[in-house]
Amino acid sequence: MTHTLKHYLQFTDLSVDEYAYVFTRAALIKKKFKAYEKHHTLADRTLAMIFEKASTRTRVSFEAGMYQLGGSVVHLTTGDSQLGRSEPIEDSAKVISRMVDLVMIRTYGQDKINSFAANSRVPVINGLTNEFHPCQIMADLLTFIEHRGDVTTPLDCLKGKVVAWVGDGNNMANTWLQAADLLGFTVHVSTPSGYEVDPAIAGLMTHSECFKVFADPMQACHGADLVTTDVWTSMGYEAENEARQRAFADWCVDADMMAVAKPNALFMHCLPAHRGEEVSADVIDGDQSVVWDEAENRMHVQKALMEYLLLGRQ
Ligand code: CP
Ligand code: NVA
Repeated sequence: MTHTLKHYLQFTDLSVDEYAYVFTRAALIKKKFKAYEKHHTLADRTLAMIFEKASTRTRVSFEAGMYQLGGSVVHLTTGDSQLGRSEPIEDSAKVISRMVDLVMIRTYGQDKINSFAANSRVPVINGLTNEFHPCQIMADLLTFIEHRGDVTTPLDCLKGKVVAWVGDGNNMANTWLQAADLLGFTVHVSTPSGYEVDPAIAGLMTHSECFKVFADPMQACHGADLVTTDVWTSMGYEAENEARQRAFADWCVDADMMAVAKPNALFMHCLPAHRGEEVSADVIDGDQSVVWDEAENRMHVQKALMEYLLLGRQ
């Protein structure tokens, strides 16, 4: 059976139906992993992982995940490949995609991953760009579904929920907006002035109903089902670190913010975290925090994604 070439460059690259399938499949794959049952659906397939920025979770989850599917991986960075010596991204894509079955890229501008995909013979997955981090949001949604819903009807528990985003209007925030628009929940966004989300990046209208902007982070957290944040300074923005430390001082998710959210609200953070900056230690290490489940679910959901992009529905 031929399978059409499909990339995963931003959250909107899968449909509602496809997400329902992938989440249910991820739950099955996770169950088999926990039971030490073999699941070698990608035997003899190779994944190339290209990192132009640092990573712990993305590297381990894709690499371990691919081996667990029976495949193998090639790991490249800017520093140890010709990517760091100005070989055009288009040429790199043409070469790499003749030798592997699947490519994961973590890079800077979305334009770079778009150019790679346009020149690739094989599916390309976004492992984080300046604009988006779709694999992380998939893992976060699977985590929410496990805690608050049912993996057999995975999308039902998301409908009408409120996610409070406290912090930078960054790649994670943009991807939350895309997910909310597609899957029917609302994001309450609170950022310091000058660090707002730009809905146009997510492909949304300024007045889209899937998000509301709050100057006060406490207001954003009010009645939320999930409170989430991220580092004040993302990779690639290190030169702005001092200014950001000053601007973000009031955007620390602490017990007071969690107290105004729903009593059963979850706390999420994609990690790595800085305790005492974007989140207090008692919140990230407290009972409402599901950050370790989120990190683990990167692997399960990405295994389902890789399988889906290469084989379609099983
Ligand atoms: N959350 C996440 O993507 O982590 P890494 O930067 O460690 O890959
Ligand atoms: N927004 C962060 C996420 C890290 C996983 C960054 O881009 O550095």
